[in-house]
Amino acid sequence: MSHKKNLKKALVQSDLRHLIHPQHHPSEHQDPQVWVSGKGVRLTNIEGQTFIDGLSSMWNVYLGHGRKELAAAAHRQLKQLAFATAYAGATNEPAVELVKTLKRLIYPNIEAFYFTLGGSDATDTSIRTARFYWQARGKPGKQKIIARKLSYHGSTVGAASATGVEEFSQGFGPRLPGFLHIESPNPYRFTTTRKDVSPGVAAADLLEEAILREGPETVAAFIAEPVQGGGGGILVPQDDYFPRIRKICDKYNVLLISDEVITGFGRTGRWFALEHWGVQPDIVQFAKGITSGYFPLGGIGVSKEIKKTLDSVESGKRWWHGYTASAHPVGCAVALTNLRILEKERLVKRSEKLGRRLLRGLKPLEKHPHIGEVRGLGLLVGVEFVANKKTKERFSSDLGVAKRVRQELLARGVLTRVLDDVICLAPPLVISERDIDHIARSVKEAVTEAIRID
Ligand SMILES: Cc1ncc(COP(=O)(O)O)c(C=O)c1O
Repeated sequence: MSHKKNLKKALVQSDLRHLIHPQHHPSEHQDPQVWVSGKGVRLTNIEGQTFIDGLSSMWNVYLGHGRKELAAAAHRQLKQLAFATAYAGATNEPAVELVKTLKRLIYPNIEAFYFTLGGSDATDTSIRTARFYWQARGKPGKQKIIARKLSYHGSTVGAASATGVEEFSQGFGPRLPGFLHIESPNPYRFTTTRKDVSPGVAAADLLEEAILREGPETVAAFIAEPVQGGGGGILVPQDDYFPRIRKICDKYNVLLISDEVITGFGRTGRWFALEHWGVQPDIVQFAKGITSGYFPLGGIGVSKEIKKTLDSVESGKRWWHGYTASAHPVGCAVALTNLRILEKERLVKRSEKLGRRLLRGLKPLEKHPHIGEVRGLGLLVGVEFVANKKTKERFSSDLGVAKRVRQELLARGVLTRVLDDVICLAPPLVISERDIDHIARSVKEAVTEAIRID
C-alpha cells in the first residue's frame, strides 16, 4: 500500500473515533475526502486528485483558495495584535476600519454593526436584538419570530428554531417557543387559490395572515434569506415578493431581518441581495463571504433606528449580549483585505456576468424529462430534478439519485453539494469562463448519466 493510502487510512481511523463533524453520521464518513491544499478554484485531496470547488467549499470561499494577500493580512495582524477585547470600553483599528467599509457597501439605512463568529450566532444576535429593540421601545410583548419553511438559519438553539427544515430540530427537543413558519414563496412549487394577486404577493400575504393570527403586538420580526439556500435549494423569489413583505412589515411594526449569510458580498451579483428588489431590511446578517472563509467571522448590521435605541437605554438595562471573539482583530483585518479585493477585482459584477453564463449553459437542461427547473441569481444556481415533471413528484430517496449525480460530477472533476433533489452551484467569484463552461457541461453529462430515462 502506498504511503499516501496508509496516511489516509490512519487519519480516517482516528477521525472516525474522535472527530464529530457538522451533520455527523458515520454512514457518510467511511471514505471521506481528506483535503490537503487549495489553489484558485481548485481543491486537492490526499490522493492527489483535484476538483473544481463548485460550492466555494461551504458557499464561502469567494476569492478562491491560496490567496496570499489574505494570509498576509492575517499574519500581519497576528504579529501586531492577535487579540484584544472589544467589550464596551475598548476597540481596535481593524474593527473600526471594517465597519466604515461595511457602511459604504451595505444598504444605505444600515448604520451600525456587531460581529459574531459565523452565521448561527448572527441569527441568535438578530433575534435577541429584535426583541430587545421592542422591549426598549416600550413594547415588551413583541417577542415572536416568524420565519419560513425551507429556510436555514443555523444550528444554535435559537437559529435552529428559526430554521424551517424540521430535521434540524429532530431529536434535540422542541424548538424554542415563539417561533413560527409560513410557506416559502418557492416559485417552482408554491400554489395559491387566489386569483386577485400574483403568486409573489399571495406568498407574501401569508406573512400578513400570520401576523394577524398571532396579533401584531406579539410579533417582533420576520426573518428570511433573500434566496433560500441550503434548506430550500436555491429558491429565487418572485420579483414582487420582498417589496410586498417590506410593506407588510412596515404596516404592522415588524422588523425585517435579511439573512444574507449566503447571499451577502456579491454572491448574487449585487453587494446584498435585497438590492435586486429595491428593499432595505432593518437588520441584515452576514458571515461566510466576508472573509472568504479564511477566518471565522460573521455579524449583523442594524438600522439607525435600532442603533439609536441601543444607545438610549440606561446602563443597567443595556443590550447584555456579547461574545469574547466579537470584532476579533484578525478576522476584521482579513475581512478588510477580502472586501478590498472584491472591490478592486470587480467581483460583484463578475458574479452577475458569470452567473448568467452558467444559467445560460444549464437552461437547455430543462428539456430533460427529469429536470424540473434550472434557476439562479448571480453565481448561485440550482438544478432541480424530479421523478415526474408533470406532477413535480420527487424521486424516492432510496433510489439514491442525488448520490449518483454527485458521484458523476466528481468523476468529471466537479465537487459540489447535491441536496435530495437539487444540485447546488456556487463557485468562487474568481472562477474563469472556461471553468464555468466545464461545470455546465459536467452537470449536463452527470444528469444524463445518473438519471436514466425510463
Ligand atoms: C442563510 C444561512 N444562515 C445561517 C447559517 C449558519 O451559519 P454558520 O454555519 O456560519 O453558523 C447558514 C449556513 O450555511 C446559512 O446558509
